[in-house]
Amino acid sequence: MNKPAKQALEPLASRDLFPTPPSFAARARINRSTWAAQRLDDAARDPLAYWEAAADALEWRTRWHQVLEWSAPRSKWFLGGTLNATESCLDRHARSWRRTKAALIWEGEPGEVRTLTYGQLHDDVCRFAGVLRALGLVSGDRAAIYLPLVPEAVVAMLACARLGVIHGVVFGGFSAEALCSRINDASCKVVITADGGARKGQVVRLKDTVDQALANGACPSVTSVVVLRRTGHEVSMTPGRDRWWHELVRDAQPVREAVAVDAEHPLFILYTSGTTGKPKGVVHSTGGYLTGVARTMRWVFDLKDEDVFWCSADVGWVTGHSYVVYGPLANGATVFLYEGAPTYPGPDRFWEMIARHRISILYTAPTAIRTFMRLGDHHPQRHDLSSLRLLGSVGEPINPEAWRWYHQAVGGGRCPVVDTWWQTETGAIMASPLPGLTAQKPGSCTKPLPGVEMDVVRQDGSRCADDEQGFLVIKRPWPSMMRTVWGDDERFRQTYWVQVKDPATGAPWYFTGDGARRDQDGYLWVIGRVDDVVNVSGHRLGTAEVESALVSHLAVAEAAVVGRPDELKGQGIVAFVTLKDGRPPSEALVEELKRQVASEIGSFARPDDIRWANALPKTRSGKIMRRLLRELATTGRVTGDTTSLEDFGAIAALRPAED
Ligand code: PRX
Repeated sequence: MNKPAKQALEPLASRDLFPTPPSFAARARINRSTWAAQRLDDAARDPLAYWEAAADALEWRTRWHQVLEWSAPRSKWFLGGTLNATESCLDRHARSWRRTKAALIWEGEPGEVRTLTYGQLHDDVCRFAGVLRALGLVSGDRAAIYLPLVPEAVVAMLACARLGVIHGVVFGGFSAEALCSRINDASCKVVITADGGARKGQVVRLKDTVDQALANGACPSVTSVVVLRRTGHEVSMTPGRDRWWHELVRDAQPVREAVAVDAEHPLFILYTSGTTGKPKGVVHSTGGYLTGVARTMRWVFDLKDEDVFWCSADVGWVTGHSYVVYGPLANGATVFLYEGAPTYPGPDRFWEMIARHRISILYTAPTAIRTFMRLGDHHPQRHDLSSLRLLGSVGEPINPEAWRWYHQAVGGGRCPVVDTWWQTETGAIMASPLPGLTAQKPGSCTKPLPGVEMDVVRQDGSRCADDEQGFLVIKRPWPSMMRTVWGDDERFRQTYWVQVKDPATGAPWYFTGDGARRDQDGYLWVIGRVDDVVNVSGHRLGTAEVESALVSHLAVAEAAVVGRPDELKGQGIVAFVTLKDGRPPSEALVEELKRQVASEIGSFARPDDIRWANALPKTRSGKIMRRLLRELATTGRVTGDTTSLEDFGAIAALRPAED
């Protein structure tokens, strides 16, 4: 891991406190009268009792006999407990007054609106589970979901869960190559997709991408492809393999009785980038995961039955799993979903939809907030945003300026802002204000939530002093923690559990990969990744993934990819490339390489900048000196110690490709 980069401290921002408005606090689920300081201490002293109470809010078939079995890095939660996620998310609501309550309100990019009540969503899920069962899927099998953000994406996920089938959702922006490798890693039997999705007025041709991914027997585990008709354009259907969603559901036998699974049964696999070229299949459990997302949904977002909750993430990312699907539905919430681009057809699409659907809680990413901020205050001001009562941020550090703009221009100064820190691996929010209780500081995710023990430590595990930068670690297991990397327990251990240990006992702590500091009030300020992961517009990418996409081009000898700060995207990607002998650099090649990355991974991974190098700067042991490259990418200059360079000339030879 890299040393956390030095960043100017912001003493002003640290003192800039935004207490929750008294009117909000008075009505909040968790406020000073409902959750006295004493109870926070209790949760810290006995986190298992805290989590046990949280698990009680779910519907279980069999109650657990033991809360936790922990032998780092292996955890088992709620041992002996059995449940089915859809019974907590659907059946119990469909049996109650919520049967006629809106579960999903969906708006397509072209403007059509569909509402599904809990009763309807339950029926659709039972029916689609019948389709999957008829296609031969049984508990423990894997199915890939590659859909636009339409209600059927939620239906498909829950239908898998109803059978104990493990879903692997792949974001619709990923390329055929990326889809193929994920399908193969998890040996998916079924792929659930659509003809296409609507994005920026265009059709994203998802089925064509699935066809490319499966071409020439590249995914031998796949026996069936289910195709939803969304855009209506012509697609090719392979006989015997591809079937239309609407035809299958017509003949399906609904699965009224959900399959009860063990609390530890995997609910889903979600691929995320790490420090190697191969993305990791993060495995989440059923009981522990649902406990974490249900509790945080209710407490962090102060969720009430009358709320209309909009988390703008795609279901292809963990935020979509936890706070579009499982967290809200486990709580019987009304969820708003929007299929398309945030500024299509105009810059005020978000605000117009918030006003029209009377959305009360908005949860989005700093990249989007910065984009809106740049577009100007007049767009939100033209719309009636008085329905909003709480705002949330996720995915990357939010700069204090964007935080203040969000608070003022969107929230009218009356809505608390919950800056939520978490990761694909943590499953649920780990650090965030409790909006009725915690005063906010712009740019800080405030404090770990009850039941979570996080800290900022030095490499040797000793605790950092106030304002000293160090590594963010989690010291105790939590129910929604990832269980393993699919098919690779050793990678799970090596990635998260060997870097930092408790200096007193030698017990491993969970290493987040993030650098942070803790201020004098105990507030956490996350600085960003300290490993070779970059965060582009809230999308997480491994530099090694982009490198391997580049070196798969015939002209490329070597590539090193680093992140550099970007005002809008958080980070941008800069690639340093050495070419094979006889291949001259050219503008055309720059474009070709950018295209190559887009086709290997997805267009969101396109490098911003490609620079040619005669050789890459390396240490004597052959390691690429990324610190130098990061500095060069950021400032254009290199300073500091270069004595361990293999080739001093390499630094001088790096120049922008555009030269
Ligand atoms: O660096 C942190 C950043 O996003 C990383 C996790 O990315 P991913 O697994 O894709 O999940 C994103 C959505 C949960 C973290 O290691 N990150 C996430 N939230 C914040 C954040 N950085 C600062 N502040 C946050 N609120």
